[in-house]
Order: sequence, then C-alpha cells, then structure tokens
Amino acid sequence: MVEQQSATPNYTMGYSEDFQQLLNLRSAETHARHLLPHLKSGLRVLDFGCGPGHISVGLARAVEPGGFHGVDMEASQIDMARAAAEAGGHFNATFHVGNATSLPFEDGYFDVAHCHTVLTHIPDTQAALDEVKRVLKPGGIMASRELIVDSCFLVPGVGEIQPAWDVFAGLLAANGGHPQMGRELKSAFLDAGFTDVETTASFDSFGSPQAIGFLHRFISDWFFAPDIVAAVTGYGIATQQQFDEWRDALDKWKNEAGAFGGLAFGECIGYKP
Ligand SMILES: C[S@@+](CC[C@H](N)C(=O)[O-])C[C@H]1O[C@@H](n2cnc3c(N)ncnc32)[C@H](O)[C@@H]1O
Repeated sequence: MVEQQSATPNYTMGYSEDFQQLLNLRSAETHARHLLPHLKSGLRVLDFGCGPGHISVGLARAVEPGGFHGVDMEASQIDMARAAAEAGGHFNATFHVGNATSLPFEDGYFDVAHCHTVLTHIPDTQAALDEVKRVLKPGGIMASRELIVDSCFLVPGVGEIQPAWDVFAGLLAANGGHPQMGRELKSAFLDAGFTDVETTASFDSFGSPQAIGFLHRFISDWFFAPDIVAAVTGYGIATQQQFDEWRDALDKWKNEAGAFGGLAFGECIGYKP
C-alpha cells in the first residue's frame, strides 16, 4: 500500500509539553467568538486541526445534541481531545486521526467547518479549503482564525525583540507555512469560492503580571528549545549568538514596568454557495 504524504509534512509547533501550555489557554468562548453566534443546537460541526480539543469541546457544547467531529493528523492530540470531551460529558463529539486535505466524510456532511491556527501551517491552502468546501452543505459556514506574525509584539524593547518575530515567521515559511495567514484569509476564502466573506482581527493579550510571566515562560521554553534553535540555525535564518541576545532581551522585557505582549490573529467566515 502506498502511504499518503502528510499535507503538513513539517509542522513547526510540534507536540511538546512546552507548546501545549499555549493551547491549554484556549476555549471556544475566547478563541471562536466570531463563530459562536452562528452555532445552534442540532447543527453538525467539523473542527479540523483540532489539537487537544480545548476549543472543540465548546463547539460541541454549542450544537448539542448535533454531531461534532474533530480531526487532527496527530494521534496523541486526538487522544487528548477525546479525553477532554469525555471529561466534559460531550457525548455528541467524535474524534478522528486524519488529514485536512483528505477528510473521511461524504460530500455535504457538515453545516459548519472550523479551524484555529491550522491554515497557518498547511502548505497548500487551496487544497485544504477545497476539501472543506466539499464536505460542507450548500449554505454551510467555513470559519477560521489564524496568526498574523508581523503584527505580534512585545513592548517595550521592540527594537531588540522584533527580529525574533521575523525569525519565527521565517521558520514557519521555511516549513511550508503561512506566517501572515490571518490577514490573507479573506482572499483565500474568496479564491476558494466562499461567498459573503466577513473578516475581522483581534489579539490574544498579555498585560497582567501573571500573563506576562506566562508568555515569558512559554517563549523561553518553546522558542529557545534545542530543536527549534537547531531548525532555525539549520535553515540559516539566525545564529546561536542571536538566540542568546534575544533571550537576554526577553528576560529584560519581563521585568519592565510597561511590559505588554500581543499575539495577532485574523478571523474569517464564509459560506458555501
Ligand atoms: C497550532 S495547533 C492548533 C490546535 C487547535 N486548533 C487550537 O487552536 O487549540 C495546529 C494543529 O493542526 C494540526 N494539523 C496541521 N496540519 C494538519 C493537517 N494537514 N491535517 C490535520 N491536522 C493538521 C496539528 O497536528 C496541530 O494539532
């Protein structure tokens, strides 16, 4: 049997505990605010690239007793998502290991499809959107929220830290991803044939001492992990010396009275004609 090649052969973020810290902060109420008003009891929803399911469980709750299906290419994430749904008593939720570009569903199966920080990573955006469109009913909704790395910030100290954001964008792109996908969603949805496309932008904000401590710890653990440093230096995007300088700048940032950080996202909703 010929094994199908993954649609995301070089997934940048990985599945370490370090990265899970960030996903643990997410929920449908905070990260799918643009979609929740469109959901009602009885709809059938797909969440592709669902990860450990923190957003999924809220989407499943919003359509109960309608069917909810989460899909992720990574089995360990699906195990976590199943456990989260079971713990929350969301018995309408089913999870599958699968690929966004070859979904295990018949044509026109879903009322709504959702993804959060997934199109950022899939090299062939149109292949994913075409496949999602196939499994949506006519009139079905496609919703996505994706990163805009150019608009992410840590202040003060922008001058010292901004090059690190550029390197993160370079790493995503070198792995076949789309670091500015959040601001490209509207065009991508229109190119895929979705209509009545609505788009907005928002930040995940880190301003309280607790949130600043979290963001400092997360960036320290994930961005400076040996495998990320090795990938970046291997691509020739930055040097070990630059990582050392950014670590100093990050430690300094955390202790600034005016420390504030933001992760920038674009959201988009469109309809299958
Ligand atoms: C950044 S995580 C986001 C997880 C979740 N949506 C959230 O926001 O909490 C991206 C997820 O997309 C999954 N993924 C990436 N490319 C995929 C593909 N082609 N098919 C299915 N899942 C994919 C990864 O395995 C990962 O779990």
